[in-house]
Amino acid sequence: MMNFELTEEHLAVQQAARDFAQTELLPGVIERDTHQQFPAEQIKKMGELGFMGMMVDPKYGGGGMDTISYVLAMEEISKVDASASVCMSVNNSLVCWGIETFCNEDQKMKYLTRLATGEKIGAFLLSEPEAGSDATSQRTTAIDMGDHYLLNGTKNWITNGNSASYYIVIAQTDVAKGHKGINAFIVEKEWAGVTVGKKEDKMGIRGSDTHSIMFQDVKVPKENRIGEDGFGFKFAMKVLSGGRIGIASQALGIASGAYELSLKYSKERKAFGTEIMNHQAIAFKLADMATEIEAARLLCLKAAWMKDQHLNYDRASAMAKLYASEVAMKTTVEAVQVHGGYGYVKEYHVERLMRDAKITQIYEGTSEVQRVVISRDVLK
Ligand code: CAA
Repeated sequence: MMNFELTEEHLAVQQAARDFAQTELLPGVIERDTHQQFPAEQIKKMGELGFMGMMVDPKYGGGGMDTISYVLAMEEISKVDASASVCMSVNNSLVCWGIETFCNEDQKMKYLTRLATGEKIGAFLLSEPEAGSDATSQRTTAIDMGDHYLLNGTKNWITNGNSASYYIVIAQTDVAKGHKGINAFIVEKEWAGVTVGKKEDKMGIRGSDTHSIMFQDVKVPKENRIGEDGFGFKFAMKVLSGGRIGIASQALGIASGAYELSLKYSKERKAFGTEIMNHQAIAFKLADMATEIEAARLLCLKAAWMKDQHLNYDRASAMAKLYASEVAMKTTVEAVQVHGGYGYVKEYHVERLMRDAKITQIYEGTSEVQRVVISRDVLK
């Protein structure tokens, strides 16, 4: 059975996200980018509308929706504001899904119920100054002290670094065991010894608050460890595999946002006596954009569908992320070209989308990491 049709529910979620993006995110998006302002009020409203815990079981305050709905909403939000959408993606895919799938009931009641409603925001702390793609090389340590772990180290480039209240922290608990000596913990930002470091001054997604986070002798209660001892690396890999569907959808949204602006502009702007859409030089760019975006969308939806069917989606999510991020980069560069001089100034949005696109090839695994995941699967 093959069916490309979205359900009534899917279309309603897509429309709600589109309306929200146009009415609440579009005004002020240029200013937030310029001044590196986190969209705090907008994220609060997104929580109220159910966008921060879309797939979480309603008994924990979530929306109980499928991953297809999440992809559709992520695309619409990302068309307009990729800084808001990365906050949404990390909270939904990495934090909420990770806690709902791998945490015990007490942890879910204590943390998930607040994260799924958007009352609190979460962050995922894996990357370190010397452990980006090479995620097993964790230098942050959590030493077992009996009833608690003592956490020390520094994490870098943390999305929602300052806005989050709860951190999922990946740390080495036994160096001798390599990746099997890594654990994941839920750490509260307000605990003694936790310091939010400098905010990164980034090329794109400038409204997103990206910080380094330092831990100095932070006491983490035993009950805040996620899963069995030594589960941390697998936890991180599983969570990131789903997270890649979110970032792929973000890339898709950045691309389709740039495409829609280019289409509109090319119908309005005149050159050489006619609207520029009538020049094949522009029409062919639009044809390529539309084709590649459609292919990226299908990869995102396929990966989401596989996840909803409880099939192994590691390869599918890596493919979606790899391809959609390349389409985002290519489409936004072409969108600036279609807009000519106007494309190079902030008012027309496409220069921001071009800057935002680049990060989708870097975070939640670079394009090279996706190729590692895909090639290993292809060659096995
Ligand atoms: N599911 C379950 N287990 C998995 C897995 C998966 N998807 N992927 C790997 N594993 C397991 C392996 O089976 C292996 O376990 P065994 O030894 O028991 O078989 C173990 O994990 C180690 O795996 P590898 O040998 O494959 O590890 P590697 O060192 O070769 O690394 C890698 C593989 C794919 C490059 C991985 O390190 C990786 O994904 N790196 C990128 C990390 C990343 O995405 N960082 C993003 C940071 S978060 C972020 O960006 C959020 C944000 O701000 C937006």
